[in-house]
Order: sequence, then C-alpha cells, then structure tokens
Amino acid sequence: MIRLRKLARAASVLTTPLAPEDVLALFNPVFSARQLRGVVTKVVPETADSATIFFHPGRGWKAHKAGQWARIGVELDGVRHWRSYSLSAPAGQDPAITVSDVGAVSGVLVRQTKPGDVLFLAPPQGDFVLPEHPRPLLMLTAGSGITPVMSMVRTLVPHRPDADVVLIHSARTPQDSIFHEELSELADQFPNFRVTHWYTGERGRLDFGSTTQLEELCPDWRQRAAYACGPEEFLDDAEALWSSEAAAHEKAAPGPFAADPINLIIERFNTSLVGGAGHDGGLVTFETSDREVEADGNTPLLDVGEDAGVLMPSGCRMGICHSCLLPLRAGQVRDLRTGEVHGEPGQLIQTCVSAAAGPVNLEI
Ligand SMILES: Cc1cc2nc3c(=O)[nH]c(=O)nc-3n(C[C@H](O)[C@H](O)[C@H](O)COP(=O)(O)OP(=O)(O)OC[C@H]3O[C@@H](n4cnc5c(N)ncnc54)[C@H](O)[C@@H]3O)c2cc1C
Ligand code: FES
Repeated sequence: MIRLRKLARAASVLTTPLAPEDVLALFNPVFSARQLRGVVTKVVPETADSATIFFHPGRGWKAHKAGQWARIGVELDGVRHWRSYSLSAPAGQDPAITVSDVGAVSGVLVRQTKPGDVLFLAPPQGDFVLPEHPRPLLMLTAGSGITPVMSMVRTLVPHRPDADVVLIHSARTPQDSIFHEELSELADQFPNFRVTHWYTGERGRLDFGSTTQLEELCPDWRQRAAYACGPEEFLDDAEALWSSEAAAHEKAAPGPFAADPINLIIERFNTSLVGGAGHDGGLVTFETSDREVEADGNTPLLDVGEDAGVLMPSGCRMGICHSCLLPLRAGQVRDLRTGEVHGEPGQLIQTCVSAAAGPVNLEI
C-alpha cells in the first residue's frame, strides 16, 4: 500500500495532465483508484454463439458466492456500456462469465474479447445463491440460464459428498447446450449429481402446465429446494406451477409445522416491458452533467443517459436491483412495465424501466 502511494506520488511528479492512477494503470492494467477493472486471462468458446471469458480482477473485487452476478463494462465507440453477467466459475476461484451473443455488448464480448483485454467491473451481487443449510436441490435451467447454476454445481458437487443435486437443463440441440460435456462428465463421476439434458429440438418444450413431466424426471421434486434460470416464458411457467403446488401444499398442511415449503428461487436475465410506444417522450435534462437530449416515450432513461455519455448508475437493467435510482427534479415518467405515469419532485426513479412522459429533469 505504502509502495503504491509512493509510486503514485512519483508518477504525479513525472506526469501531466494524466492523473497518477492513470500512469499506474499503464504498468498494471487492473490498477485504478476510481474504477474496478479485470484483465482477461482466457477466452474459451462454448457453442457457436457463446464463450466463457476468464478474468483476473484488480483490487477492490469481493470474492463471489456461487450463483452471483456482476456488472461488466465494455466500451463501444467511446461509450461505456454496462451489462450484468452471472459468474460461472466456482466460488473461491477467479471469476469467469459465460456470454451468449444476443446483441450489442454480448456480441463484442463473445466475438472480440482476447487475453490481455481489460474489462470494467462492479463487485458481485445477487441472492440467487446456495441455501445456507444443505438440502437436496433441483435446478431447472434453459439456454444461457445454466451459467449461475454451473457455478453452484462446480462449487458443490465435487467437494460435498453429502450434496444431492438434480439438474434438468433445456437447450435446442446438444450443439447449443452450454457446458454439455462437463455436466455429463460430472454426472458420470459423482453419484450425488444427476443431469437430464432436455433437447427442445427433439422433444419440444418442457411442459410445466402440469406436474407430469416433473414427476417423471425428478419424482421427489417437491422435497427439493428448487432454483430456476432461463428465458422469461420458461420461468413464468415454472413459477406458476410452483405457486399452485405451494398453495395446495399449504391448504393440506397449514401452519408453522408444515414440512419445508415448496419454494422456487428464480434468476431472471431480462423482463418484458409493455413499453410506451405511441406515447410522447420529451426533453430529458441531466442536470449535474449538463446534458439535454430529446427522448421518445419508449426508451428507458438509463439508455437515453448512457447514449448521451452520462455516467448512469445501473445494475440488473430490468427493475429488480434498484441500482439505477436517480432523483427526479421535474417532470413525469412512464413505468415501462405497467404503463403507469408518475413522478413528484424528489422521487427516486428506476431509470432502467422508466421513460420520459414529457420534459424530465434528473439529478445526475
Ligand atoms: C442478473 C443477470 C445475469 C445475467 N447473466 C447472463 C449470463 O450469464 N450470460 C448471458 O449471456 N447473459 C446474461 N445476462 C443478460 C445480459 O445482461 C444482457 O442482457 C445480454 O447479454 C444482452 O445484452 P446485449 O447488449 O448484447 O443486447 P442488447 O443489444 O441490449 O439487446 C439485444 C436484444 O436481446 C434481447 N436479450 C437481452 N438479453 C437476452 C437474453 N439473455 N437472451 C435472449 N435475448 C436477450 C433484448 O431483449 C434485445 O431485444 C444476465 C442479465 C442479468 C440481469
Ligand atoms: S438497474 Fe436494477 S432496477 Fe434498474
């Protein structure tokens, strides 16, 4: 620490107009007093359109728990874009993200990242983590939803003989199935882990409309702590099934002495916004940053600010984590999830799910 301070002082004498920490970053790319960074150590293709990026984080990174996610910042055309990615590496190891190419940022991460590149980072967060006390587990995943669960499986299965994990993973084909080989090898090696690969190309979608398929694939599913991660419809259907079973269970055995509750823990990567299409937006003023932009009534204020070069706080980008809250100074916004228009001066606005409904002033 003292050596770093001395080096920073020396650098400040030798350099101008660069800040001392900028010079230190030239020697050590993950050093930054202002912004957490990580240097990419390895990139491993997983399927035709996904890859795992391993990175070594700089000082300030907090070790992740299996199942957590982190925000990753990538610069595109000089603008820093932040997206959230689950950490697929087991707890206790350097982090890795496994990204599917579905859009602007993920495309760059999958296709263009190479060892030595520097990623901007925010510390790991999230409650989609293993239970505190050991319990038999059922994991339901589809597509890239395998990533947080892979971290849990890698953390638990090889190291805890008392673990009991059933994974049902859905993908279109074996070629599209991320971690397909490693999962099969783990299942061969460890009797405490069972995996069903469900290929929708051959068998259609998993049916959560009734309990029939679940009973076949995991007869004791009601006794297991269940986790699910995947596309929205997959999660909505699983959630509906678990809710109705939980209601029936509560009716049959009410009160505090009932057996372990039937409970499904869900991690969502995106959420559908009903949108503000057809509604007017307005002039958005980012007061502290001294920027003004004309916005439509359908674009989240988070995107409007980022596109204008304003350093917007963000996290999940779908209305869950509240990292994007900003005080409203004037005007009203539309909640893109419900269509509701609201806003009082001083109110905190979730910019990732709110669009301008007329002129808006934000404190940032
Ligand atoms: C907690 C959390 C964890 C996440 N973990 C992962 C992860 O481990 N791996 C991963 O690949 N992504 C993960 N995501 C999604 C990721 O944050 C981005 O949303 C995704 O990479 C798309 O960003 P983009 O800039 O490439 O696409 P954009 O250009 O922003 O969007 C392009 C289009 O893709 C759609 N889209 C967004 N996300 C998905 C998706 N997951 N599947 C299909 N279509 C999508 C959008 O609706 C949009 O139409 C996670 C998201 C959250 C909130
Ligand atoms: S970024 Fe998470 S709620 Fe807006």
